[in-house]
Amino acid sequence: MEIRELDTTDPAALRAWYDVRERSVRADRPYALLATYAAFEVVATASSTYWSRTWFEAVDAGQVVGVAELELPLEENLDLGWCEVSVLTGHRRRGTGRALWDAVVARARQHGRSRLGGEVSLDLAVPGAGLAFATAVGAVEKHREDHLLADLPLPPAQLDPAYDLVAWRGRCPDEHRAAYLAMRNQMNADVPTGDLDLDVEVLDDARLAASEERLMRAYDVRVAAARRRSDGVFGGYSLLFVPHGTDHGWQDDTLVMPEHRGHRLGAALKSANYADLPAHVTQVHTWTAPDNTAMHRTNTTLGFRVVERMYEMEAPIA
Ligand SMILES: CC(C)(COP(=O)(O)OP(=O)(O)OC[C@H]1O[C@@H](n2cnc3c(N)ncnc32)[C@H](O)[C@@H]1OP(=O)(O)O)[C@@H](O)C(=O)NCCC(=O)NCCS
Repeated sequence: MEIRELDTTDPAALRAWYDVRERSVRADRPYALLATYAAFEVVATASSTYWSRTWFEAVDAGQVVGVAELELPLEENLDLGWCEVSVLTGHRRRGTGRALWDAVVARARQHGRSRLGGEVSLDLAVPGAGLAFATAVGAVEKHREDHLLADLPLPPAQLDPAYDLVAWRGRCPDEHRAAYLAMRNQMNADVPTGDLDLDVEVLDDARLAASEERLMRAYDVRVAAARRRSDGVFGGYSLLFVPHGTDHGWQDDTLVMPEHRGHRLGAALKSANYADLPAHVTQVHTWTAPDNTAMHRTNTTLGFRVVERMYEMEAPIA
């Protein structure tokens, strides 16, 4: 068995890498939300100023049997890398996962990283081997979130009449960009991350624009925001991605600014986004820390149910 780096200029190799990852993950996780091939292709073929990414593959008798991804942040968290390792079911417990991990660690060390983080998601009914594997390579739990799923349509949640709904798709309109950036940065500072010791990512207009441009290539990006009628001040937003050509949405950030809390804006903004979706979108995924009581309750009240437990793991590699 040989570990090699994926040649991202080779479309057939890209496809093979993606298929092995998808089959490996799906084997244990019927509710997994996986990037579409189009979304993977965007990330794998367009370079980014903010991230350096490497993909590895384990090849046995000419077949790819396992894959790994390493992401290195380039602007902040320069001591850290993020990784994921996946091995096809028929090829497990033979050291393939560990060999991929070793390749990831060696590359991360070359770039001066001293710790590696990763997410392990476990199905509620039949938990897979992810946590045992992560523990075996020296990782410990730093944070936990629930993965929740809702079937659409959901009963609507009304927006407080003191607020107007401001919604857009794709790029945030110029007139709202300053307010939207302020809210996005508040979100990055406020979101609970447990024991994960992370620098907060700071978005400026250029970084927001780069992220919007990349995301729009693979996702229908939908934002619903609430603007107070009395003074035009924005009180919160909710961000939803619908991968092109799929039947599901992925609920990303929802933030209510501190002075606007207590008006059920979070539920109303999510609900506004879902109500506006085309009929072929029938499910929405989201992630919430179980101890983030306000948001967990908002989600279950809206109609979400927990389908997986997600563990943020981290291993020292210095
Ligand atoms: C987790 C995964 C990558 C392991 O791949 P693998 O090739 O079987 O891993 P290895 O054979 O190198 O196992 C390394 C160690 O992990 C632990 N481990 C792996 N699978 C295990 C299992 N089913 N039960 C208990 N321990 C397990 C063991 O300590 C093992 O060492 P050992 O075989 O000497 O006892 C694979 O099961 C998988 O792809 N699962 C789905 C995706 C996933 O959860 N990835 C982890 C998130 S990054």
